Amino acid sequence: AAPGGRKSANRGAFSGRSAFIFAAIGSAVGLGNIWRFPAVAYDNGGGAFILPYLVALLTAGVPLLFLDYAIGHRWRGSAPLAWRRFRRWAEFIGWWQVLICVIIAVYYALIIAWAMNYTVFSVDTRWGDDPAAFFGSFTQALGGGDVTIAFDYVGPVLLTVALVWIATLVVMTLGVQNGVARTAMIFIPLLVVMFIILVVRAMLLPGAFTGLDAFFRPNWAALLNPGVWVAAYGQIFFSLSVAFGIMLTYASYLKKKTDLTGSGLVVGFSNSAFELLAGIGVFSALGFMAQAQGVEVKDVVDAGIGLAFIAFPAIIGEAPGGALIGVLFFGSLVLAGFTSLISIVEVVVAAFQDKFGLSRVAATLGVGIPLTLVSTILFPTTMGLGLLDTLDNWVNQYGIVGAALVSTIAVTYVARGLPTLRDHLNAKGSFPIGRWWYLCVGLIAPLVLGISLALTTKDLLT
Ligand code: PHE
Repeated sequence: AAPGGRKSANRGAFSGRSAFIFAAIGSAVGLGNIWRFPAVAYDNGGGAFILPYLVALLTAGVPLLFLDYAIGHRWRGSAPLAWRRFRRWAEFIGWWQVLICVIIAVYYALIIAWAMNYTVFSVDTRWGDDPAAFFGSFTQALGGGDVTIAFDYVGPVLLTVALVWIATLVVMTLGVQNGVARTAMIFIPLLVVMFIILVVRAMLLPGAFTGLDAFFRPNWAALLNPGVWVAAYGQIFFSLSVAFGIMLTYASYLKKKTDLTGSGLVVGFSNSAFELLAGIGVFSALGFMAQAQGVEVKDVVDAGIGLAFIAFPAIIGEAPGGALIGVLFFGSLVLAGFTSLISIVEVVVAAFQDKFGLSRVAATLGVGIPLTLVSTILFPTTMGLGLLDTLDNWVNQYGIVGAALVSTIAVTYVARGLPTLRDHLNAKGSFPIGRWWYLCVGLIAPLVLGISLALTTKDLLT
């Protein structure tokens, strides 16, 4: 029996490097690329943001991706097991990552379900001419908003959330290669094609170039602001899905002799390329909206739920051929979100599988049924949505940053494990890791993470 887990046979495996790369890109490319990056870049220097962004990618994103890969691949386990095999006391880091994934999964599934509904609503612009009010009623089924709208959609939304979970659990039971990898190998190319059509369509809208101009216009002075740098690192961490246990778990399914570093570079740069594409698409659409409403681009910039479920419906309602834009946009959210959801649930399923020696199906059901129930039961209540919001804030502000900070410090200073991991990466990697890696993982990353924790704490206190 393996230490910390009863059985480690039959864990599943990726058929090869491209299966792994697709799965990893599937995880990285998510809602954050589409609805978070464009506004973060715009708010933090526009075209000038490219500099801190690239620095963050190269000094922390890719190095931490390598760290995740090295731990998962060298110690061959899900997050808690791999951490435990690395150092017994470090198992808690893995469970911390599992907890983060559980929380994210619950609301990620909900958002995908909303996007599925909105894909259909795009066809007849169901939200009428007040998308904000419609969204309010749509989500607040049992409280507030227009009760008739709310009531009309309780059933369909519950059904779609359940559907998202059933699809996720089916993918999980199909296993690492036939489920996780195959889904990404189908969904990611489809997503890229759909998204490119969407971006081209958006760029042809009147006003698109005002939007692009606002997006790319560099504000070099922003580079002097430390907050801009922290934002760049924050975006990179979230976007690459590092320190969630995801990349670690995926790497544990790779054959012994795999080029980890070369794969990491492919994943890192593909993710950023998609992010840039999203910025172009989103700002073209925002430029159109600003022009249509006779306001400036800065007045219509939005991110997250507001961008997707309020601003975009307005754009879809006004743009010529809006239905197509809507189907492509919400369809993209569904595809990008689903492959990310799979990766988070994989962390949880794999952890339980390893810990209790469960079969894949047993672990999937054991994890999946409670998660499905929470996700569907929480939905219709105002209290549930409030709770979700609080959890989301907590996870984003402390959970993720904290886990990343603790893991870099634990590996570098407590365990002094970086040299072993570097040797492991260099044994088969096509991209050689020099001593600069120690600097990135041991100093730059913890420093930036510490500063960003301090800044959020200060914001909360004042
Ligand atoms: N990387 C994903 C994105 O950019 C977000 C994500 C984070 C997905 C953590 C899964 C887990 O949207």
